[in-house]
Amino acid sequence: MLVSLKTILGIAEAKQIAVGAFNVTGLEGIRAVIEAAESLQQPVILQFANSAHNMYIPLDMIGPIMVEFAERSSVPVCVHLDHGNSFDEISAAIDMGFSGVMYDGSALPYEENVANTRAVVEISHKYGISVEAEIGSMGNDEAQLKSCYTEPEDAARFVEDTDIDALACSFGTVHGIYLSAPKLDIERIGHIKERCNRPIVMHGGSGISDEDFRRCIKEGVRKINFYTYAAKYAGDAVRDSIIHAEENVYFHDIAAIAMNSMTDTYKKTIKVFSNL
Ligand code: 13P
Repeated sequence: MLVSLKTILGIAEAKQIAVGAFNVTGLEGIRAVIEAAESLQQPVILQFANSAHNMYIPLDMIGPIMVEFAERSSVPVCVHLDHGNSFDEISAAIDMGFSGVMYDGSALPYEENVANTRAVVEISHKYGISVEAEIGSMGNDEAQLKSCYTEPEDAARFVEDTDIDALACSFGTVHGIYLSAPKLDIERIGHIKERCNRPIVMHGGSGISDEDFRRCIKEGVRKINFYTYAAKYAGDAVRDSIIHAEENVYFHDIAAIAMNSMTDTYKKTIKVFSNL
């Protein structure tokens, strides 16, 4: 069933777990996420990062399919826009029936980030849609990361100024493949949570150890964004299966191999996030 981001994060809070938020770029990914969540009977977030992935499929094509799968599912599913950065994109997601949106104004000056986030909150809340927003910056660059860590005071002020439903913040994770082992400032999560009283969102889940996931969840992380490793393992599985192929290679077989690999990765990940 389709539920709002606020509802699904409420379930996570009650169970002291984190909900996996998995990016999708096509039907195989959507099917893998839903299959993994249903087989474990756990809530899940299907998300699309239009700003990064619309070269593979446009929002107006994948969005309605995500909503349809969520509505048909036997588990609570939130359909979420990841890293939304324009009002047009956010309005399109709302019109399509998404139940959560992220507005990412983290690269903007504070006042501008607040003004834009507030505008997104006002329109979204009118339709019962929840909003995630970001302060601090995760980016893709480990070298510059420390200077962008979220300060608990800033986070508290941001939540107060915007009335968002979930807070993405920076404590040592980055998107994509890590160049060296990530060192997370896990205590910072607890301080931020204490000051903000909002579910904390971890971006850049790929490459984090199971032990660190568990410690972050204990401190208040309730949504974990995870994509790169699922896509990489699916690519590895496809490569392994065809590297010595002497006969014809058919796309439908490759797609099935990738989908099954993603299902396995998401199942393992959800087990860790749900303490199963
Ligand atoms: P990874 O691709 O590094 O797992 O991060 C996903 C993410 O944070 C999407 O917003």
